[in-house]
Amino acid sequence: MGSENFPFEIEDLEAGLAKKLMECFTGEVTGYVRVGPKKYFFPQKYKEEAAKIYNMPIKRDDVFVTSYPRSGTTWTQELVWMVANDLDYEKSNAIPLTERYPFLEFSICVHPENKKKFIEENSHSKENLELLEAVTQPGTDQLAVAPSPRFIKSHMPLSLLPPSLLDKAKMVYVARDPRDVAVSFYHLNKVMRTQGYTGDFKTYWNYFIQDLHHWAPYFDHLKEAWEKRDHPNLLFLFYEELSKDLPASVRRVAKFFGKEYSDEQIERLCDHLSIESFKNNKSVNYDVMKILGIMIPSDQAFIRKGKAGGWRDYFDEEMTQQAEKWIEDNLKDTDLRFPHLNH
Ligand code: A3P
Repeated sequence: MGSENFPFEIEDLEAGLAKKLMECFTGEVTGYVRVGPKKYFFPQKYKEEAAKIYNMPIKRDDVFVTSYPRSGTTWTQELVWMVANDLDYEKSNAIPLTERYPFLEFSICVHPENKKKFIEENSHSKENLELLEAVTQPGTDQLAVAPSPRFIKSHMPLSLLPPSLLDKAKMVYVARDPRDVAVSFYHLNKVMRTQGYTGDFKTYWNYFIQDLHHWAPYFDHLKEAWEKRDHPNLLFLFYEELSKDLPASVRRVAKFFGKEYSDEQIERLCDHLSIESFKNNKSVNYDVMKILGIMIPSDQAFIRKGKAGGWRDYFDEEMTQQAEKWIEDNLKDTDLRFPHLNH
């Protein structure tokens, strides 16, 4: 594929490989695609959304929070929203994050057969059916009627978003050690029926580093944003920096949005943003996915451990070395460095 509205080729993943993947990722039943020169990997439904996302109208007061999944997106979303909205705790508590931030491409993860199942399972409640329709509607349609300023969550790499985005709107990008990302995403893949992962972590990790996973290749994703880190409309954050010194990250975000807050206000915000507060904050923990049965209830929910470096419990010696080499190889052609690693 490829058209005047969308400049990249979209190739179907080879059928045999797709079949193998779908055996352990039960949320997809048709197949996958790879997109453009970097071969970004998506479920086949991306084909329907590619041009709509790439050409979506951008407004000057739009705020994007983007990342590779499980890099601290939710944490960053709440931080950014609070800073940009004059620390409006009341509104933040009253309106779930999922409503404050449409998830641009979530609909590509909801296979039509799964959607049918979700509709059947929720048919007892009109309210649930409306909610289901709202969260599975393409993000571009949700955003077309959203009031400004719009806050937008996306895991799309910059190259698949509108080319004029940074000329007009602001973006905060958050990155995280890929080993922690993989562990965290593995847990989410098991409980989100849109992914329905049934395998073990080692198998998962191998697919992840072969770029056979949603929104991969991981390093190209990061590098695209890293290259723009000095752009006045892009703020590049690391999960590990938020973890180490949250007040400093809050100050950076405040500066980016032209806001000034006192030490007391920042202290209160950091308290609100702590993992303990998040675990008890219904507004940020993606309850909607559990209510609709899209997420299987589990301890490994959306807000999980919230620690940097937890990957060590999941990697054997072979995987540790493989990861080190993979990271080293991928950082050869860039000055991207993780602040918590002694490269
Ligand atoms: P873990 O699974 O390692 O705990 P995303 O929002 O991009 O999906 O990222 C999810 C990861 O961020 C999860 O990591 C989650 O626990 C962590 N996280 C969410 N809120 C957090 C917070 N307030 N403080 C620290 N980590 C947080």
